[in-house]
Amino acid sequence: MQTWLEGDAFYCYVGNKGFEDMDKLEIEGGVPLNGDVEAGGSKNASLPILFASILTSEKIEFTRLPDLKDVSTTLELLRGIGARTELGKNSASVEISSLASTEAPYDLVRTMRASILMLGPLLARARKAKVSLPGGCAIGARPVDLHLSGLEKMGATFRLEDGYVIGECPNGLRGAKISSRVPSVGATENLLMAASLAEGETILENAAREPEIVDLAKMLRAMGANISGEGSSELRIRGVSSLRGVNWRVMFDRIEAGTLLLAGPITGGKVCVRGVDAECLDAFSKKLMECGVRVTAGSDWIAAEGMGERPISFSTAPYPDYPTDLQAQLMAFLAQVPGESVAEETIFENRFMHIPELNRMGASIRIEGARAIIAGRRDCFGGATVMATDLRASASLVLAGLSARGTTNVRRIYHLDRGYESLEKKLSRLGAQILRKAE
Ligand code: UD1
Repeated sequence: MQTWLEGDAFYCYVGNKGFEDMDKLEIEGGVPLNGDVEAGGSKNASLPILFASILTSEKIEFTRLPDLKDVSTTLELLRGIGARTELGKNSASVEISSLASTEAPYDLVRTMRASILMLGPLLARARKAKVSLPGGCAIGARPVDLHLSGLEKMGATFRLEDGYVIGECPNGLRGAKISSRVPSVGATENLLMAASLAEGETILENAAREPEIVDLAKMLRAMGANISGEGSSELRIRGVSSLRGVNWRVMFDRIEAGTLLLAGPITGGKVCVRGVDAECLDAFSKKLMECGVRVTAGSDWIAAEGMGERPISFSTAPYPDYPTDLQAQLMAFLAQVPGESVAEETIFENRFMHIPELNRMGASIRIEGARAIIAGRRDCFGGATVMATDLRASASLVLAGLSARGTTNVRRIYHLDRGYESLEKKLSRLGAQILRKAE
């Protein structure tokens, strides 16, 4: 079955409800940012980890949970199937002692592609699941065929009805050998969760290797799952009959950390991000160093200084290579590094929506298919009113605004709020003149 969802990068505003708070960020640029800032919990790790609470009837306690729209959507989806949740400051507990429903409704799913991650855990626990597919706004087709074909190999069957994927496995899921066409973060996570409670052994070949998958695997192991190979492209999971509750501290957000780190060099300052594992940012920091930024790191911090001296080429690819989620931000940085840099996007089409807006601010970037040619020029950015089009694009506009002469207004920042917790507060503490205002 071929289906499409809009994803992390693409978000649709449908109807009148949900984002009536159309805030904007007003940035007075040209101020060097300096100092230390603490990384928050990872959005992309939080979502699968929260969905993993479907796999047990016991309580799971989460800490370092980022306060983000996608996290509250996930908690709402879980409450919809019967979860009792308690929320604290960057913490939550989830207990699903019994399932009241196995459905993920359209109104919530349409706002978050990661809702598809309910499919595997629901099939594993309840042997059935009904997850809506959002339609109508497939900017950048992102299929979910790998999620579905993997679960089919484990014994599930699917049909599409009224925009919902309805899955069933009346005899339960069984282990299987599943080889993925391309490494998919979401499909690997879905199958990992499903396989933890399946009968027999599952082998995931060409699995994604992202640190967020390692975090999920470690949590599942703490819950009693039998998993090996996380962080490599082959995962082995021997199913167990039940999983238990656990306390889990979510890993740091490497995309937020990379964005905050760039705020130093792009303004001619120096920023140190704390609470990180710098190894997870290896491909990113290597590219910064290649263009002349001084990057230093310790056991739980990373710092960057220097505006960059040489143009570079980079290409996005699955971990451990350069992350697509930091493509737009590095492009904003390279726009002000003298010389011709090249960025290639190999993971998602239409992930260049920030380019027209960066150009309106003074950058000189042209698109040639999946490549962007950046004619870098120091101090290229001037203030402008720009429109955020998706999560990571928004971050690149904020970085450009911090570096620009004059005032920048970044509109439609609900995109930003999906993935960055209090970004403007963190940047203010580093010296940025940035304010959230109602439109
Ligand atoms: C996750 C991240 C997102 C990041 C992306 C790539 C979360 C919540 N989101 O998204 O921020 O940009 O990884 O690092 O963790 N594909 C298929 N069929 C499928 C699934 C994916 O063809 O069934 C393709 C996609 O179109 C894409 C590639 O595989 O070209 C990788 O996508 P995937 O790793 O699945 O991304 P997400 O899990 O959606």
